Amino acid sequence: MMALAGSAVGLGNLWRFPYLVGQNGGAAFIFIYLLCVIFLCLPMMFSEFIVGRRSQSDAVTAFQKLAPGTKFHLVGLMGVIASFLIVSFYCVVGGWGVKYFMDACLLRFSSEAAAGTAESYTSFISGAVPPIVYLFIFLALNAVVVFLGVKKGIESFSKVMMPILFLLMVVIAVRSLTLPGASAGLEYLFKADFSKVTSKTVVAAMGQAFFSLSLGVGTIITYASYVDKNENILRCSSVAALSDTVFALIAGCAIIPAVFAFGLSPNEGPGLLFVTLPYIFSNMPFGGLAAILFFLALILAALTSSISLLEVVISYVSQHFKVNRTIVVACSFVCVMALGSLCSLSLGAAPGIRLFGKSLFDLFDYISANILMTGGSILITVFVGWKLGKKTIMEELTNRGSIKVPDWVLNVICFVIRYVAPLAVLVIVLFQ
Ligand code: PHE
Repeated sequence: MMALAGSAVGLGNLWRFPYLVGQNGGAAFIFIYLLCVIFLCLPMMFSEFIVGRRSQSDAVTAFQKLAPGTKFHLVGLMGVIASFLIVSFYCVVGGWGVKYFMDACLLRFSSEAAAGTAESYTSFISGAVPPIVYLFIFLALNAVVVFLGVKKGIESFSKVMMPILFLLMVVIAVRSLTLPGASAGLEYLFKADFSKVTSKTVVAAMGQAFFSLSLGVGTIITYASYVDKNENILRCSSVAALSDTVFALIAGCAIIPAVFAFGLSPNEGPGLLFVTLPYIFSNMPFGGLAAILFFLALILAALTSSISLLEVVISYVSQHFKVNRTIVVACSFVCVMALGSLCSLSLGAAPGIRLFGKSLFDLFDYISANILMTGGSILITVFVGWKLGKKTIMEELTNRGSIKVPDWVLNVICFVIRYVAPLAVLVIVLFQ
């Protein structure tokens, strides 16, 4: 449960959620986001959980076991590819987190950062060597955890780090909320202005909910495959989804009120974290300590997510092709390092690395959140709703009748998995 929550809580909550809230009108966005989580994402999470736990296999073999002779395993393969693409650009941002954490520890935010201009951030991320060195450090941390294995590495790490992460974020939120002028930020976060809602807001909220809950790319299938048959799927998934949502809201409270307290605007885009925050930290009382805690939290959050992405690839290759886990970890390290370096270089040092008019970094981000994750989730719910069917869903959600769940709840979940979730997502995507 902690590992699943760790996969969900990540850069999506810290890096994407606050700026999407900022760009899409604050509370109205949050409201739509919550609706997406409850009515679309949660049933999708149950579906992935069912596939993983029932098959006890990696994301591709799972479909082959549950529906032999069909093409559904391609959905799993798509997930493995998506995880690989996401982890490549994700670790680049994780590396930026390492750099900012080290700067914060050495009390060394540059004078441009302290003055709130974007120059040092843009020159860092578009540089050739430094971001790749930090990528290496971040990826090495990942490799150590996944090398130790599922139980000793991923599970133990998540169990210890997740409570620490929450605690860190609460401390920073309290600091931010007690700054003079912070109440304007709170109002922005929680007072809805529906006049700003457009179809784009809905698409952005849904894409963010998918990304934040790690849906559609096989992470949940993979983690669920290690889970005991007696585990309660409804409880596990709900706790993970709730932790993720609460964490996103706490992160919002840590970031947006501070932005308002300094008279800045919250719609800065991705630079919010690496430009606006260093400025705020450099200029507020106890800001040095807040900066260290914040970037430590960022690294932990990113790590528990990137290991879940790596595990999708590692469990597939090691189980499906029966290759020794250590060899697979080493090869994945080299491959992610290579693709991650290309992503990083595409941000400036080698601007020629572009496809379809976007840098490789932006392209991977775009394809994963907007196409692979949504596509994967629709296909997985169709698989569970129609191929496995209602009886199997009921059997899995109640552990063959041993957990009491009211019939109407089960019926609603089945109805959403079969009809509402795939259709709603399809309509929203087509509308976009
Ligand atoms: N949910 C993670 C985050 O919010 C990202 C992620 C996506 C992790 C897909 C695993 C799978 O940062």
